[in-house]
Amino acid sequence: MAVKMKNIILIGFMGSGKTSVGIRLSYRLRRTLTDTDKKIERLYRMSISEIFGRFGEEEFRNMETQCLEKLLEEPKGRIISVGGGLPMRDCNRELLKKLGWVVYLRVKPLTVCERLEADTSRPLLQGEDREEKVRSLLEQRAPVYESAADIIIDVDGKIVDEIADEILQNIGIAT
Ligand code: S3P
Repeated sequence: MAVKMKNIILIGFMGSGKTSVGIRLSYRLRRTLTDTDKKIERLYRMSISEIFGRFGEEEFRNMETQCLEKLLEEPKGRIISVGGGLPMRDCNRELLKKLGWVVYLRVKPLTVCERLEADTSRPLLQGEDREEKVRSLLEQRAPVYESAADIIIDVDGKIVDEIADEILQNIGIAT
């Protein structure tokens, strides 16, 4: 598939900057941005927190898989940002590979904690000891993200345009 026709998919932990980087790439490349969480929220007319509360995490994970399956049938050449837990399922990683370039935005736990200090929208990080939750989840997920990725970008201390530049250089797209 020609480079310019492939989707660019952003994976990474909550707070790694997938949405901000996705918006910037979409603007710079004039490509449509699709966010799996937003697609699910629109389809079910509920927030992610409400979906977790009503149906539970497992059902949300099924929705994510269905969302990827639908994306495979849609026109290519998009920027796709996916929820932080989506690459954990084996079948989802297969689907991601079929969808296009998989770019892992690698972030340190401290950065996540700073960025999401006041966040109430991520059900998995609510309650006591957020820092410990972030550390243990990230430790568990990091090897899986790495195995799913075609390109790994360290994001700590970088501005959005720097990250976008690195992604485009790695893929070989000039802007
Ligand atoms: C989740 C990440 C969230 C959202 C849901 C679960 C996760 O998306 O899909 O709260 O398991 O890491 P973001 O990564 O966009 O925050």
